[in-house]
Amino acid sequence: MGATGAVGQEMIKILEERNFPIESIVFLASERSAGKTIGFKGKSYEVQALSERSFDNVDIVLASAGGSISRKFAPIAVAKGAVVIDNTSAFRMDPKVPLVVPEINAKEIKKHRGIIANPNCSTIILLVPLAPLHKADPIKRVTVATYQAASGAGAKAMEELRVQSGEVLAERPVTRAVFPHQIAFNVFSHNSSVSPENGYNEEELKMVKETHKILGTKAIRVAVTCVRVPVMRAHSEAIYAEFTRPMTPAKARKILSKAPGVRVVDDPQKNHFPMPLEAAGKDDVLVGRIRQDLFSRKSIGIFVSGDQLRKGAALNAIQIAEKMCGL
Ligand code: A2P
Repeated sequence: MGATGAVGQEMIKILEERNFPIESIVFLASERSAGKTIGFKGKSYEVQALSERSFDNVDIVLASAGGSISRKFAPIAVAKGAVVIDNTSAFRMDPKVPLVVPEINAKEIKKHRGIIANPNCSTIILLVPLAPLHKADPIKRVTVATYQAASGAGAKAMEELRVQSGEVLAERPVTRAVFPHQIAFNVFSHNSSVSPENGYNEEELKMVKETHKILGTKAIRVAVTCVRVPVMRAHSEAIYAEFTRPMTPAKARKILSKAPGVRVVDDPQKNHFPMPLEAAGKDDVLVGRIRQDLFSRKSIGIFVSGDQLRKGAALNAIQIAEKMCGL
């Protein structure tokens, strides 16, 4: 579901790359895309318009067509006997729905009742490195600022960054359709709605709530600032974590260098640290700038970059499917 979108296209690539065992596959999108063709493992498939009849004989639905589409169609797919791995925020906070990052809480998968939720991309990229540190020494507080790529807002947003960049360089007026502000050569507060009660935007609140659900504790105090930057497809995050006991950069580096899904990129001499351009297209979350808080032996700072379309979305969903199938 959502096969023609930014995440859907990445899913198709990853299913091919990882040779996920598939007997048959159906590519679903809106009526606008019906009849377009998608190549998969050397064959050409026609995109089909999503309908209530799309799920006959389907075992697994990978859903990435937006929250309202998932809310409507996931229950229909489940009633037909499929398991839905949902990339939208529709069911993430439902207590009956597991919210899974396989490196962290794969054991939750078997509790599903037809729907498994894939977390928000910024949450996944935050927790892949933080969870192993938290396991070694419980985290009390996390302060994080995100630097989020256009890809998080879908294929049309990526196109908007491309088009606007050309317009700016050609000194033409900038056209805008997806984002509320110019994304090329600019930085703005995340484009989700802001709560009138607390001033946090939806993306920030998702990161707080989903962190608690995935790590299974509400005791971690999470302070988030989400920001959109003119990067095509990998999110970065500046993270400060305060632990229960003293945490040294050496200890953090040792834990992170063994952590699944993490690659340490931390070379102060060359000033070489995680960058979205180096994270793009890669499976691992890059982690670096591992350093002690100047004022606390219990706190460290790190900087991370992770491909929003891969580990932040498509790859995580397919890893869930693999675990579910015992692969
Ligand atoms: P389409 O390309 O036909 O519009 P993205 O997150 O990159 O914007 O992608 C959204 C995905 O969700 C696309 O594959 C899009 O299909 C699909 N989609 C959007 N609206 C609908 C709808 N009403 N029914 C089915 N698929 C939809």
